[in-house]
Amino acid sequence: MTQQSEIRLTPLPSRSNKQLDPQFGRVVTGISASQVAQLDPSSAMAEHIRTLLFTHSLLLFKNKGEIEPASQLAITRVFDPTAPGFYGHESNHSKHTQSVLHRDLSTCPTVPQVQIIGHGFVKEHAGLTNVTLKHPHHKTFHRDPVSQADEDKGITRFYRWHIDAALYDLCAPIATTLHAVSVPKGDWQTVRYDDGSGQELPVPLGGTAFISGATAFDILPPHLKSLAVRTRIKYAPHPYVWMSSARARPDGLGLYHENKELPLTDLPPWTEDKIKILPMLWKNPATGRLHLQVHPSAILEVHVDPLPAGVEAFEKDHYPSGAVISDLNEAREFVRLMQRPAINPEYVYAHDWEDGDFIAFHNRGVLHSVVGAFSENQVRIFHQCNLAAAVDPVGPDQQDIEQYC
Ligand SMILES: [Fe+2]
Repeated sequence: MTQQSEIRLTPLPSRSNKQLDPQFGRVVTGISASQVAQLDPSSAMAEHIRTLLFTHSLLLFKNKGEIEPASQLAITRVFDPTAPGFYGHESNHSKHTQSVLHRDLSTCPTVPQVQIIGHGFVKEHAGLTNVTLKHPHHKTFHRDPVSQADEDKGITRFYRWHIDAALYDLCAPIATTLHAVSVPKGDWQTVRYDDGSGQELPVPLGGTAFISGATAFDILPPHLKSLAVRTRIKYAPHPYVWMSSARARPDGLGLYHENKELPLTDLPPWTEDKIKILPMLWKNPATGRLHLQVHPSAILEVHVDPLPAGVEAFEKDHYPSGAVISDLNEAREFVRLMQRPAINPEYVYAHDWEDGDFIAFHNRGVLHSVVGAFSENQVRIFHQCNLAAAVDPVGPDQQDIEQYC
């Protein structure tokens, strides 16, 4: 049996994470992903592994060979033993063909909490036969994709910055696990932000980009920190169906405001009590840090509490008396003002996948996006798993509000 003292953590390999939070991401040795799958989720070791995830946001196991979907589910359970047990998007992607997630996910028939994702034709894998996987390409979601000529030169985009969460009815998964079964090797590509910033980021082919929600909060100026601790986000019902006709900004961080969202009356049946209104900041259960966690494409309204009684409003303070921002364009601009600095190239970690890699990330502590484009003959097979949690994330406490307002 592995002892906690045998676990070793080393920094992530990276060519692009110049100003990453020093705590962000660790390679784990001394315990394998398969050994984590064997843990009793109520054991002290499982608790230790969870604390490592909450502290470092992303744990990488350099696994050799394939991990069975049932083991991946067991590992994912270690990170949330109280999860009821169903997939994080169950009520959304599988039933509604209009959902923007429908085309990206193929459910593993034997372990439905595991999704097979990737690219290319796969004759037989994990109970699926003759399936053609499609790596999400930004041209299916961005309003103004890069030209074919630029794509041929290796220019690409962040596809969609997001949290893995249904954001309607179900509670956001605590952790997502990603397992690279087969990774095609190819040249690095360049993410071009195309949002007026002139920014670019070199990324490995088909990499997964992550930013720390804790950093996203930490880098805000004081008056925006004061705003963030007072803010809650109301999400659209069935957000992935609602947004299906809308198109994204070129940096993948939110949608253009063109009134293309489906009218709420045209969505699959929904009820007000299942709509999610979540804090903008989610409190880390191990470190107490606040993570700026918003799915920018799914927001419907922004709700701001007033400054606490006795706190004097400064000139820079936004909404000192509180507000309900139901104008969608204004709500989006609000969230963008808060989130955009966090995707600056120096804060992005883009993982360069190798066959066998197994990553667990704190889905309530990071945002992530796929990047890149594969050619037709490149085959990529990944397994993804997350579980809807039992309870919603917790926001700032009274002490946080007093500290930042
Ligand atoms: Fe995701």
